[in-house]
Amino acid sequence: MSISTDDFQTVQKFLLENSGISLAAGKEYLVEGRLQSLVYSEKFDDIHALVVKLRGDREGDLGKKVVEALTTNETSFFRDKHPFETLKTAVIPDLFNKPELGKRITIWSAASSSGQEPYSLAMLLADSFAWATDWQIKIVASDISEEMLTKCRSGLYSQFEISRGLPAHYLPRFLQRTGSQWQMKEEIRERIDFRYLNLYEDWVGLPRVDIIFMRNVLIYFEADTKKTILEKILKVLRPGGYLFLGSGEAPVGLENRFQPADFSTSACFKLAPAP
Ligand SMILES: C[S@@+](CC[C@H](N)C(=O)[O-])C[C@H]1O[C@@H](n2cnc3c(N)ncnc32)[C@H](O)[C@@H]1O
Repeated sequence: MSISTDDFQTVQKFLLENSGISLAAGKEYLVEGRLQSLVYSEKFDDIHALVVKLRGDREGDLGKKVVEALTTNETSFFRDKHPFETLKTAVIPDLFNKPELGKRITIWSAASSSGQEPYSLAMLLADSFAWATDWQIKIVASDISEEMLTKCRSGLYSQFEISRGLPAHYLPRFLQRTGSQWQMKEEIRERIDFRYLNLYEDWVGLPRVDIIFMRNVLIYFEADTKKTILEKILKVLRPGGYLFLGSGEAPVGLENRFQPADFSTSACFKLAPAP
């Protein structure tokens, strides 16, 4: 079933206006493939019928499902390793030296997908900083996909997902068998506040944070959207806070504020004071 140019452009525009995600021309095959299961589950005759409904019902549930179907959710535990090492050996120790934080640190995983990133953070904190009992370290994790957030909250992972990056000794320590799956133990799940947040809209209710993991999501946005999001970060990240981007991503246009953290082999940037 192939998508017409007109229908592709409708989906392209809808996605851009509702999530900031930019779909280049030539991605028709991707839209076709990803909307296919929605065509079946929502009982449309074909993609065209789905797009016709979308045109007339932009605010409804179908729109959310279309956005969800078109997001890329690739992730894994301790993805890229280095950022987590940098967090453990340099970033948290640096923040522990700041009396002005009042022994509170908030970490935001800003596009948490199915949860492996925030759970990696929670397990790392439980493993390496259990001694810091006088510090309160909170993790907020958000995503645009309710489907992903439901999975995040369940803390359930398949053997395949576990095999992608979870250190072997963490398995018995932080997860338990639940049927054919593994589930994050309550003590880890309760460390994370999962919530819906569309990076392209207002960041309502987000607290000030000290560390942001915003990895492998800016790549889906156009240059001006990336810059707008980086400017919004300036308002939520505390002075001297840290921003982790995906490897190969950079704070283009705001390099004067997000300066490479010199102890880091990761895409880790420290927020510099306004000039
Ligand atoms: C490739 S995953 C990255 C997951 C994780 N940060 C990592 O690096 O492994 C990208 C995630 O960004 C989310 N996303 C895309 N557009 C978004 C938006 N406008 N607001 C919030 N999340 C968005 C998707 O739903 C998806 O879960």
